[in-house]
Amino acid sequence: MPPRRIIIDTDPGQDDAVAILLALASPEEIEVLGITAVAGNVPLPLTARNARVVCELAGRRDIPVLAGCERPLGRALVTAEHVHGRTGLDGPVLPEPTMPLQDAHAVDFIVETLRAEAPGTVTLCPLGPLTNIATAFRQAPDIVDRVAGIVLMGGAYFEVGNITPAAEFNIYVDPEAADIVLRSGAPLTVMPLDVTHKALVTRPRNEAFRAIGTPVGRAVAEMTDFFERFDKAKYGSEGAPLHDPCVTAYLIRPELFSGRFVNVEVETVSELTMGMTVADWWGVTDRAPNATFMGGLDAPGFFALLTERLARL
Ligand code: BDR
Ligand code: CA
Repeated sequence: MPPRRIIIDTDPGQDDAVAILLALASPEEIEVLGITAVAGNVPLPLTARNARVVCELAGRRDIPVLAGCERPLGRALVTAEHVHGRTGLDGPVLPEPTMPLQDAHAVDFIVETLRAEAPGTVTLCPLGPLTNIATAFRQAPDIVDRVAGIVLMGGAYFEVGNITPAAEFNIYVDPEAADIVLRSGAPLTVMPLDVTHKALVTRPRNEAFRAIGTPVGRAVAEMTDFFERFDKAKYGSEGAPLHDPCVTAYLIRPELFSGRFVNVEVETVSELTMGMTVADWWGVTDRAPNATFMGGLDAPGFFALLTERLARL
């Protein structure tokens, strides 16, 4: 099988960083065509910087990195420095990137790449708010049918919410964008909190990253050390959930995940439940299924894959 050709749309974020590193460590399965930054965990100048920090950490200055939308479609940006720190990538001390940002806008890169490549050959991998993807779909509706699939981190059903009692961060930040993507008709695979909260970096898993003994292994251990404060305090969990690496791990080993093809819609009106994803897990409506919504994870297999691949960088 040739590698899946992907665009990673991201707001790094320590877990975004690990997702990107996993993709870059897996050239047999994944070819990264570009990384598009979006405002989310921190404002756009920082996410565009952090994406380049991560490429340089992986020794991949050749990956095109582009800055995209600096605010959600119809509302003010909500950020998550309380989770990710002031830079969005707090934890390890990493050098300022020297590789340039590409001149083009991320949305134009998404549109042009999908138009240039053969239909059904490019997969979109959003790891942050869906603003860039929705803007591309609005600007160029012809590209929707050309997308091979969208594998995204966002939403929740049984786990409900993390940024509000009802909503997961990526969807909450730009619910209108999420609505456009969920209704687009593109083949969707969704990694909600239901599955990502099972990808917990326990102490032995963190030590396994550190024991790789490389700059990448140490940086990932230090990122997850930093990131775990929040979830330990909030959920009393054993460590940090690696939300976004579920997306890239799925491209490599889909059998680690299980879910259902169901209808998923997003709340865009009620202030109380704004950004809530409503998944018809039990099939109690006649709404047409539009997404494979994951729920189960082989966590030991996931961490074995991650540790083995990160050691290659
Ligand atoms: C998502 O929000 C961000 O804080 C993480 O990077 C992840 O993409 C989890 O809700
Ligand atoms: Ca993210």
